[in-house]
Amino acid sequence: MSEPQQALDPAKLPRHLAIIMDGNGRWAQRRGMLRAAGHESGADTIRTVTTECAKLGLEQLTLYAFSNENWKRPRTEITFLMRLLRKFLVNERPTLMENDVRLTAIGRLDDLPAPARRELDKTMELTADNGGLNLCLALSYGGRAELTDAMRELGRRIAAGELAPEDIDESTISRALYQPGRDPDLLVRTAGEMRVSNFLLWQISYAEIFVTNACWPEFGVDQLHAALRDYATRTRKFGGLVDPQPEALHG
Ligand code: FPP
Repeated sequence: MSEPQQALDPAKLPRHLAIIMDGNGRWAQRRGMLRAAGHESGADTIRTVTTECAKLGLEQLTLYAFSNENWKRPRTEITFLMRLLRKFLVNERPTLMENDVRLTAIGRLDDLPAPARRELDKTMELTADNGGLNLCLALSYGGRAELTDAMRELGRRIAAGELAPEDIDESTISRALYQPGRDPDLLVRTAGEMRVSNFLLWQISYAEIFVTNACWPEFGVDQLHAALRDYATRTRKFGGLVDPQPEALHG
């Protein structure tokens, strides 16, 4: 018989969870299905994971839904993903409202096809006053592109005489990113790859990392809880010492 699941300690949950959702294609191909079926199943997983994060009281869930490198995929797959995104944005509205979830997005959103962009704007508007979980979709997103865009913005402000270069500090840069806010506490990646793949490069500086072999379509509430339980065991030092012993350091 399997061990009873240990309850999660609310005090030890991450406030901001970020996920690199990987393995839709592999999951489908292993089952003799088309990659598209993997993406469809992946969209169902987004609903499951979002709802559970909202119930657990997390503040933010950021999902890597489409990278700016994903535009290099075959046209048919891109078209399918963009249609799936549009459908998701329409169909999920009742679930988002029921769970008090606010939908936001980061990335070069102007790259999205107009129908997907329209539904994204409508869903963001509809859910804007929800006070629970912030579900942030990274769409046409790249960490380097985000930093490039932030630097351009700071450059413009310097040229306009609104900002002096010597006044730039880390918080100036954080505030110039697509969505200023709390950095992720935990970064989860599915399908076993040990890479950050250009995701939230600035923001994950001190994030704890959890990689699971489960593909995204098979990542459910149990896998989410396993990641959260693992996070609860981590000691976060942010480069400092948890229990500094100055006398030991100074002899
Ligand atoms: C990687 O799977 C996943 C993506 C391309 C992004 C995530 C997309 C979804 C979860 C689909 C639904 C999204 C929305 C927002 C409706 P992969 O195809 O790269 O997997 P592979 O590495 O096994 O081929």
